[in-house]
Amino acid sequence: MINLELGGKGVFITGSGGEIGAALALGFAGEGAKVAVVDIDKSKAEATAHRIAQQGGRAIPLACDVSRWEQVHAAVERATSELGRVDVLVNVAAAPLLRAPVEDLPLETWQFIVDVNLQGTFYCCRAVVPQMKARRWGKIVNFSSTSGRRGAQEGSSAYGASKAGVIGFTSTIARELGPHAINVNCIAPGTIATARFWAGSTRERIEAHQQTLPLRRVGTPDDLVGIVLLLSSERASYITGQTITVDGGWLGL
Ligand SMILES: NC(=O)c1ccc[n+]([C@@H]2O[C@H](COP(=O)([O-])OP(=O)(O)OC[C@H]3O[C@@H](n4cnc5c(N)ncnc54)[C@H](O)[C@@H]3O)[C@@H](O)[C@H]2O)c1
Repeated sequence: MINLELGGKGVFITGSGGEIGAALALGFAGEGAKVAVVDIDKSKAEATAHRIAQQGGRAIPLACDVSRWEQVHAAVERATSELGRVDVLVNVAAAPLLRAPVEDLPLETWQFIVDVNLQGTFYCCRAVVPQMKARRWGKIVNFSSTSGRRGAQEGSSAYGASKAGVIGFTSTIARELGPHAINVNCIAPGTIATARFWAGSTRERIEAHQQTLPLRRVGTPDDLVGIVLLLSSERASYITGQTITVDGGWLGL
């Protein structure tokens, strides 16, 4: 059995009111970490923190819009004072899917999606890095998508661009922060069966898509937990700047 040694670590997970973020938060708490459950939707953050508490874990819910620097700064301060430290940052939050052909995409929609998905990732990294540098220990896991590697569905140019940006941001700050013993990696999920995914598809389309996947099934939030915990641990200390695709083999075709 691999001991990930995450007990007592302070973990800040954005978007952890959502299904993937909640699965990760429960996974970290199960390893004994103290979790800041961060989401723009306070009630969703509270629901995840409640689930963790019911399982005997430690979590605090924090309402925060990651696209607002003042809110991110305040949330990191709060997490640091209540949990004692932020050792691990996982940037899961993403704007709702809003689709339009590129020539019709409202300027404010483009800005909104980039602000949450890309700028929010930058803001959270900016806010936690000083304390990670001071301790010479830190793990950051960002969330991109297969849409950031090979393009998103038609009408999702802002989403595809923001998620490609997260990959470039990850590899760049990994170079910058490596000398400070901070690892920065990224996950690019393929199709993961969450509300986001069901909202953007039909059952027939999903059935057809599953048949194109080498593993013949779409993913679940739990399929992401092991890899994120590993990348957040010392067991993956020689891995940085990478984007790991978790997609049932889809991109490898
Ligand atoms: N589900 C998939 O198939 C899939 C595929 C590829 C990538 N991803 C990525 O995985 C991550 C999680 O996806 P999900 O399916 O769980 O999404 P989701 O929409 O269920 O969860 C996203 C969470 O982020 C929160 N959020 C939205 N805007 C925010 C903001 N400004 N500040 C703070 N929180 C905010 C939402 O309230 C929600 O709880 C996202 O980054 C998404 O792009 C998902």
